[in-house]
Amino acid sequence: MRGGVAKREGVNVSTPTIDTSMYAGPRYSLIENAPLLARNTMHVAANAELLIEVHDDAALDHLFRLPQLQCAPVLVLGGGSNLLLAGDVEGVVLAMQTRGIKRIVDCEDHALLRVDAGENWDEFVHFTLAQGYAGMENLVSIPGTVGAVPIQNIGAYGTEAEEFITTVEAYDRTNRQRVRLDRSACAFGYRDSVFKHDRDRYVITAVEFRLPRHRPVQLDYAGVREELAELGCNDPQPIQVAKAIARIRARKLPDPLRVGNAGSFFKNPIVDGATAARLSASFPTLPQWNAGDGTRKISAAAMIELAGLKGHRDGAAGVSDQHALVLINHGGASGADLLAMARHVVATVGDKFGVILEPEPRIISATL
Ligand code: FAD
Ligand code: EPU
Repeated sequence: MRGGVAKREGVNVSTPTIDTSMYAGPRYSLIENAPLLARNTMHVAANAELLIEVHDDAALDHLFRLPQLQCAPVLVLGGGSNLLLAGDVEGVVLAMQTRGIKRIVDCEDHALLRVDAGENWDEFVHFTLAQGYAGMENLVSIPGTVGAVPIQNIGAYGTEAEEFITTVEAYDRTNRQRVRLDRSACAFGYRDSVFKHDRDRYVITAVEFRLPRHRPVQLDYAGVREELAELGCNDPQPIQVAKAIARIRARKLPDPLRVGNAGSFFKNPIVDGATAARLSASFPTLPQWNAGDGTRKISAAAMIELAGLKGHRDGAAGVSDQHALVLINHGGASGADLLAMARHVVATVGDKFGVILEPEPRIISATL
């Protein structure tokens, strides 16, 4: 992985350590000692020993047979919007940049779309709405790639991606073969899936979505109806719901193009009924919701705010004053600075509420 020119196309190029001369297949490119600053929305400066941009997933089998990828850790990277790079990345970063949307079925009732991993999620959402498909409207304005969507089963405004995912296509690194996982094999949950637990096994190459042509819009999440009323919309269609939710999100969440952040830094904790009752007795204003089987989901943002940490800052690392669940990089914070801030939040909330917050983004090169 050492030496050679800074960037090379992956076809017909020999290097001292990765011999690609026998490989005349589809494209990928290699960047040694690659800066990741522009590849993570927390704007953390970190480097990867070797970055491989994959432009065609047919290259994966070839790549994973290379000794360099068999020996070194491999981090699969999408848009970098759900990561904290706590330090430089050892080993290989594999950036999935494959693009393409294929209609497998398109009928009066629904469409089945196969979408390559490197497609931008929000562009895909707008594409589906423009085509007259329903369902994606509540998942508008979420940064990142389609390949990352199943990882935490993205969710917002009362909808989770799992409702529309029929199949996840992946390269299985354990068995070195392409696989198709149906929804039950993905074991989706709140911000959870099999891919979070079997982290180093699958590289997601494409996702298939079944989108209805007709589906009642979901307006129950707090603030959605009010925003539609502001827009003067009495009979909202999916495209108008998307517009309303995009407006709410733009007000609530800092824009990663301007301020480094990874969205919610912590998951909303799910606690048993007794813990929920204790919390509601001591903190009557703390929002909580039913989470099934007698459990309750507690608002992590409200706990952080009640702990006095909303807008808190230590150097360039801070808690957003717009939304308490979002850690922000005011400019120049290192991964270690942001990790220290996350630990401070966990410790302060733990002391006050007796609840341990868990990170939502994946923390690379450290643990919380
Ligand atoms: P990355 O950050 O690149 O990767 C995230 C994880 O997925 C890593 O573990 C990575 O290894 C893995 N991964 C990525 N691609 C692949 C692949 N092809 N194969 C295998 N593993 C892969 N999330 C929500 O659920 N709801 C929200 O409302 C929401 N709002 C957000 C708002 C803001 C402002 C920001 C910055 C983030 C928000 N997020 C939200 C989090 C984030 O956008 C999503 O989790 C998104 O799906 C991450 O996509 P990504 O391509 O950036 O993934
Ligand atoms: N709240 C506060 N203080 C704040 C912000 C919010 O007390 O600074 C309270 C609100 O008053 C409200 C409650 O927290 O009662 C919930 O707030 P919000 O609607 O913003 O939702 P959230 O639970 O904080 C979750 C997701 C978001 C998703 C929104 C909308 C998690 C970890 N986060 O946030 O997802 O966009 O709901 O569905 O589940 C993400 O995952 O990165 C993300 C942004």
